Amino acid sequence: MQPEPNIPPVSEAVLTKLRAASMAAAKKAYCPYSHFPVGAAVLTAEGGIFSGCNVENASFGLTICAERNAIFQAVAGGSQQITAMVIYTPTANPTAPCGACRQVINEFGPNAEIYSFCSGKKELCLSMPELLKHAFGPHNLP
Ligand code: THU
Repeated sequence: MQPEPNIPPVSEAVLTKLRAASMAAAKKAYCPYSHFPVGAAVLTAEGGIFSGCNVENASFGLTICAERNAIFQAVAGGSQQITAMVIYTPTANPTAPCGACRQVINEFGPNAEIYSFCSGKKELCLSMPELLKHAFGPHNLP
């Protein structure tokens, strides 16, 4: 998969850092209900890396996914442009971001490259326009 033309490709060295950050984040997941830890790391336009894990709640609907947690960390850290995200799950197959997370990723990285890896050999690399076709976003609001 070729990256979007206006997004610089992520170097192997940076991808390695993002992978490590997402794996470390997954270890911190709070998931006593699903037992499904997820870690995510985002790369910002400034070259920063922010990570997040899923955080569940006894009131299940209040759970936050790893992807949104990572993005909120970036925004709280002063970065509002996401160029890439790496997701890690300790599963046989890679996990794609849920629909709610796709919408939030779109807000800060409409052309971001999304990578997902797992304990197995398979990896995903998808662009946001592929993951969220005909997205509703800031441009739709007057
Ligand atoms: N989860 C994520 O963190 N990211 C996703 O994209 C899918 C789901 C979390 C939410 C919940 O804690 C657990 O995985 C099971 O749905």
